[in-house]
Order: sequence, then structure tokens, then C-alpha cells
Amino acid sequence: MSNESLERAIQDRSSRLPGFYRLPLARRRAAVARWADLSVEELDLWERGLDSSRADALIENVVGTYALPVGVATNFLVNGREVLVPMAVEEPSVVAAASHGALMARRGGGFEAKADAPVMIGQVQVIDLPGDDLDAACARIEAQREAILATAHAQSRSLPALGGGALGMELRRFPETSAGPMLVLHLYYDTRDAMGANAVNTACEAIAGIVESASGGTVLMRILSNLADRRLVRAACRVPAQALARDGIDGAEVARRIVAANALAEVDPYRAATHNKGILNGIDPVIIATGNDWRGVEAGAHAFAARSGSYRSLTEWKVDAETGDLLGSLELPMAIGIVGGGTRSLPLAGLGLKILGVGSAGELAEIVASVGLAQNLSALRALVCEGIQDGHMALHARQLALAAGASAESAARIAEQLVAEGQIRGARALELVMAGAAD
Ligand code: MEV
Repeated sequence: MSNESLERAIQDRSSRLPGFYRLPLARRRAAVARWADLSVEELDLWERGLDSSRADALIENVVGTYALPVGVATNFLVNGREVLVPMAVEEPSVVAAASHGALMARRGGGFEAKADAPVMIGQVQVIDLPGDDLDAACARIEAQREAILATAHAQSRSLPALGGGALGMELRRFPETSAGPMLVLHLYYDTRDAMGANAVNTACEAIAGIVESASGGTVLMRILSNLADRRLVRAACRVPAQALARDGIDGAEVARRIVAANALAEVDPYRAATHNKGILNGIDPVIIATGNDWRGVEAGAHAFAARSGSYRSLTEWKVDAETGDLLGSLELPMAIGIVGGGTRSLPLAGLGLKILGVGSAGELAEIVASVGLAQNLSALRALVCEGIQDGHMALHARQLALAAGASAESAARIAEQLVAEGQIRGARALELVMAGAAD
């Protein structure tokens, strides 16, 4: 990419940065810094990472910190906005695949995404109900609805002031469990721009006393549910068939194959697990780069994928009968925030959020879902055409060259040679590096 076109892309704040991946790391970093207006101190965070004293204050028994590469995915257009996406991940090909998926979607206008209001679910479990009479206990708890919601709402000063707080409740009966009849109260709580685990758990603990005395039973657990299905996000894209064409395979045929690949993940949990893992390959690195709880997002995604009673794909792909375009969509729970938790305590998370330029948790969720869909598009397209190993092995060859001591400039050339020779091995990479050094 010429200096001039890079300059233009930065000035236009376009995420379409052709050749960005070929730049040496220092230039890539400088380009992102200019694109996102990062200060010298902020830039320095990528070198410094997390200092030990801060780490020591975060968790227990700290002995050090653990670093991951952060890459920036390009080409994303989400709800008409140009976005560069920081991704913290160790797996080769993931950032390249996200960027490539975003490029294909961009040809059809990018991603349209919409997040629900940030409503979390808190659960209060009640056991040992008098006479095991669930209906009677529910009626008595219902009679306290106002007091329960007022108490839950009063636990946070900041969230109600921002328009959040307790929204409602529901009682769910479980007449037959291995521990006898029980019920669970669902507290619906708007956590605004926070992921909200602390707020919801605090509210659940605060209402336990009222629920217990009203029910006449015993309150056991008071904790949020990671199946945050009141806080879903949806992303969709339209990919013109010609954007999918590959090595002599016509775009319409690739689209048909992608639909067939998705269809298997709709009916077969063995394929659905891998298919959804691919989606999460895109999602988790953004969750991590923004200091959010990726275990919670993973738990929510898989529970949601199994909501029909059988585990299935989180995406839908079909061909538009009129235009021949490939239409994709993804829906899943997205309990993440831009304030509190790791977003504040991890310095690099702030940097990730700044690059993304998001103003709300919903906006972040919309980007994250778009990245998941881009990742899935890229994976499916490779899987139904040449297979994923070609691209993967080319990146692996580059890593071997770097590990053997090649400079960033010569790594690409050595990797190409390793691939051409069909010898993607560390020993051969070392020979080529040594030969280059002797020249
Ligand atoms: C590998 O990390 C992810 C894929 O297996 C996803 C998929 O099969 O859809 C390529």
C-alpha cells in the first residue's frame, strides 16, 4: 500500500486499509494510532501491557501476567460506520478471516446490527416451600411484587439515575427436580452500559429476605443468569454472489455451498459445535480486547444455541431468490459493557474501546456480533472451497520463518518458499534463514 493511499484512508477514517497486513508492525501501530487518535502514552500500553502491581490487585495469588497478541481487523462497516476492530487472540488466521469476511460483506453495504436494551436476568432460587405448594407460594410472592422491585431498584444509585434498574419479575415453577419442587424468581434489570453482574447480584441478594418470608420457603442461590436472552444482539449482511467467487468456482455456487454448510449446523450438533466455535473465534477476541467477560458470553452463546432442545447453529444463511445475493444473520445473547469491571481495571481494554469508538454497550455488542458473522462467512467460504488448511498453513509458514529468526521483511518471502516447496517445517525455515544471512 502506498504512503499516499494509507494517508488518505487514515484521513477519511476508512477501515478499508488494503495492504495493512503487509506493513511492518511499527508502521501498522502508527497507522492505527493516527486513525484512532491514540496518544503516545496509549500507544505505549501495547508494549507495557499490565503491570504486576495492578495485576496483583485484580486477582488472588498473582505471580505474573499473561500476554496475547492484539491484531486489528480491517474493512468493517457496521450500521454505516467505519470500524477498526482490536482482537486479542493466539490463533493464526482469525484476524485475517475477520477482515476478509468484513470485506466480502462490505461489497453489499457492510453489516446491519441491532442490540436489545441491556436487560439482564437475576435468579433467586426458593426451596422447601410449605406443603410443596408452588402456586400458593407464587401468589404470596406476587403480592410482594412492588416491594421486591422497589428494593431491587434501590440497590444502585447510578443505574436508576441513568434510566436503568429493576424492570420487572417473573416466577418460574419447577415441580419436579431431583431435590424436590422449587421455584425461581427472575428479576429483570436494566444495567445500561455496564455488563452489570455486580448490580444484578447485589439486587438479587437484597430481595432475598422479602422473597423468603413471602414464600415461606428457603432462598438458596441469588445470582445472574448467563443465558441473557433479554439482551440479544442481531447482525445481518448481504453479500453479492460475485464477491464470493473463488478459484474457478462461480459466486452463485459458493453461495449455494455456504447455505448447505450452514444447513448441516442447523441439524447436527457435532457440526454446530464447530460452526459456533468459528463464530466465537471472532467474538471472543473482541470481548477480551475490551476487558469483558468472555466466559459469560460463551456460556450465553451455547445455552442460546441449545434453546430449542437441540444444539444448533447461531447463524442463518440463505440466498436471496431475486438478486442471488447471499444473506447472513446471527443472533445471540451479548452481556457486555463499556463501563466497570475489566473495561476499567485493564488499561488495554480502554485502548480497545477507544479504537472501536463505541458510545454504548449496545453499540459494542453490535460490532461484536458483526465480527462473529464475518468470521463465520470467511470460515464457511474457505471450508466449502479450498478448505481452511491452505490459508492456515501459509500463516503457519510465516510464523515458522519468524521463529527461525527471519526479519519481518524476509519472513513473507521465506514463508512463500516453504509453501511452494510443500515443506512447512521449522528445520527448513531455519535453513532458509541461515542461507539468507549468508548471502
Ligand atoms: C477453527 O478455529 C474454526 C473453524 O473450524 C470454524 C468452522 O469450521 O466453521 C474453521
